[in-house]
Amino acid sequence: MISGAAGAVGSIAGQIARIKGCRVVGIAGGADKCRFLTEKLGFDGVIDYKNDDLAAGLKRECPKGVDVYFDNVGGDILDTVLPRINLGARVVICGAISQYNNKDAVKGPSNYLSLLVNRARMEGMVVTDYVSRYPEAMRDMAEWLSSGQLKSKEDIIEGLQTFPETLMKLFTGGNFGKLILKVS
Ligand SMILES: NC(=O)c1ccc[n+]([C@@H]2O[C@H](COP(=O)([O-])OP(=O)(O)OC[C@H]3O[C@@H](n4cnc5c(N)ncnc54)[C@H](OP(=O)(O)O)[C@@H]3O)[C@@H](O)[C@H]2O)c1
Repeated sequence: MISGAAGAVGSIAGQIARIKGCRVVGIAGGADKCRFLTEKLGFDGVIDYKNDDLAAGLKRECPKGVDVYFDNVGGDILDTVLPRINLGARVVICGAISQYNNKDAVKGPSNYLSLLVNRARMEGMVVTDYVSRYPEAMRDMAEWLSSGQLKSKEDIIEGLQTFPETLMKLFTGGNFGKLILKVS
């Protein structure tokens, strides 16, 4: 299970998980992004959190529960996934984009006791901890890209003057793929 699944990180994490043999379900906002995940990237299931009831979608797409949750968004979505995790599940905290602009306290997961009941682990992951494995990642990803197993979608916006609006796309879902500001 991956949140922010149509984004830069989520779409790559989901595809790598599939290549490694997992059944992958993504959470994304909107029909276009969800269709892209299943039809173009081969995700096994999707939940459109903007139009579906997330808890019902989790039951529908993960009837046997969630073994690994790769979380990019935090907040309510993390809290809704936690009761669905399996015994020994792993919750990877990669990001919490729903919380970055909070003026009040960050919303933590109230359903964290699911970690206790399920003897599960929630752990932060920062990509720079894996610098020593970048060459391995570049080699594998280059092979997967050239064989078509991995697809990368970019959303390129031109002009430094658009920076404020471009940045805000990350928080509204206005981007579709890796958001790149082209400075010419
Ligand atoms: N740990 C690390 O080493 C590391 C490295 C890079 C990035 N990150 C984190 O990874 C996450 C994704 O980064 P990215 O560059 O790939 O961005 P991205 O996913 O390309 O863009 C952000 C997406 O997040 C979704 N989103 C925004 N606000 C949301 C909300 N309130 N609830 C649910 N979804 C929301 C939107 O997609 P929808 O249209 O689907 O809502 C938006 O398009 C971020 O949290 C970032 O901080 C972590």
